[in-house]
Amino acid sequence: MKKTIGILLSVLLLLGCVIPAAAVILQTDWDVYLNENADVPKGIILQPGRDESERNLSWYMPAGTERCSVLLSESADMNGAKTFEGETVRTSQGDLAAKVTLTGLAENNTYYYTCLTGDEASDVYSFSTTGDSFTAMYTTDIHVSDEDDDPDCYKNQALFFSNVLNQAIEKSGGLDLLLSAGDQGTYGLRKEYTALVAPASIKGIPFATALGNHDRRGADFRYFTNLPNHKRTPFDGFQCGDWCFVKGKVLFLVMDSNNGDGMAHSAFVKKAVKEHPDAKWRVLIMHHDMWGQTMPSREQGNRMLRLLWSPIIDENNIDLALLGHSHYWSVSNVVYNRESVQTVEKDSVIDNAQGTVYLVSGSINHPRGGTDFTYGPNIGVGVEDPSRIVYNLIDFTPDAVTVKAYDYETGEVFNTLTLTKADGAEKPAFSPMRRVGRWFTGFFGRVYAFFNNLGNYFDLKERGFDVSFGEMLKD
Ligand SMILES: [Fe+2]
Ligand SMILES: [Fe+2]
Repeated sequence: MKKTIGILLSVLLLLGCVIPAAAVILQTDWDVYLNENADVPKGIILQPGRDESERNLSWYMPAGTERCSVLLSESADMNGAKTFEGETVRTSQGDLAAKVTLTGLAENNTYYYTCLTGDEASDVYSFSTTGDSFTAMYTTDIHVSDEDDDPDCYKNQALFFSNVLNQAIEKSGGLDLLLSAGDQGTYGLRKEYTALVAPASIKGIPFATALGNHDRRGADFRYFTNLPNHKRTPFDGFQCGDWCFVKGKVLFLVMDSNNGDGMAHSAFVKKAVKEHPDAKWRVLIMHHDMWGQTMPSREQGNRMLRLLWSPIIDENNIDLALLGHSHYWSVSNVVYNRESVQTVEKDSVIDNAQGTVYLVSGSINHPRGGTDFTYGPNIGVGVEDPSRIVYNLIDFTPDAVTVKAYDYETGEVFNTLTLTKADGAEKPAFSPMRRVGRWFTGFFGRVYAFFNNLGNYFDLKERGFDVSFGEMLKD
């Protein structure tokens, strides 16, 4: 991966672009890059495809652009490039978003790509595919924020994330996946997202983005992303629904936890699990913190979240849930039926867990201050000082999942969690009574979600987004 990034940087230098330094990007370099690189306003984002043989791409294009496509090659000079044609959707700003899926990719290979807006080519970027073992960065609440009283705020915050990402790349020796549990942008605006994905380094790592409540304040998450295995239903919110992908032996379920429709979530997870019997590990990513209980004012809503999500997570034997929203880093005990069934301590190794471990990471740009808080009874490991900037590196292998939590300032690991699982290991059986309970909470959640989604749509209209009701019903 380091070699790939090195080649990528060389290619871009040859093309005369201003490239962020591999380690820490300086403010002056960043300002020049944001202002002068023609790809920045396009917001090119590389996302996972349905499995390792695919990658999805999305970017913005001017209205009237007749064609979008991607050239893909196995060599940096783009020799023998293959063309992948895409589709376009109209955005709420009246221009277009390109959606292209690259298919037929081989495992453990390096590819180079350029995005064509009509005939205009982007810079050349690169990514590598992996086999069954790979490393992901798990982060959340990046919060790139477009603040009226500080026009440079979103640029500075995108720069800060880029520097955290660069440290993660350096520590991991090469990242294969980026998992983000929501609130990528504070207002869900295009300028937040295009700044977020501006660094060349991020265009070489498939970026799995869950929808946060803040992303839901704007319309652009919908246009900015190109999500695999996402088929819009009438019960989805405007910005996205549930989607999933497989990498190695892991099924990643990326859920919209802003949407209370438990019936739809349950059906989606069950179908995905059934369709991927070879996935030994099941990882669920969504925005809302379930067990932290660090913010008493949110507990009324959190109780409903726990009622809604616990049965879905337990019934489908989810191994690991990656969450955000509270901005308090934590690792839960092994939880089943809303209770701790095994204690998790600092640097624990858990074999064949009889339940789910829930992780919450801290915010990159909006960390909490103060030390006057306590964690709930299901939390195994927490932090004393939530103002520290943290990120997590997760090594996935067929036999183990190892999560290392890093303090960005020191660059040191402060907790390691290891989950191991034997082939064919048994998980608890889901009781018929809980299935009935899951149906009832799911149904009431659906009624709530219907009105809540409608409310969000009218909020978008009121905030000036040119969205149509028809978009709620089609992909
Ligand atoms: Fe947040
Ligand atoms: Fe949030």
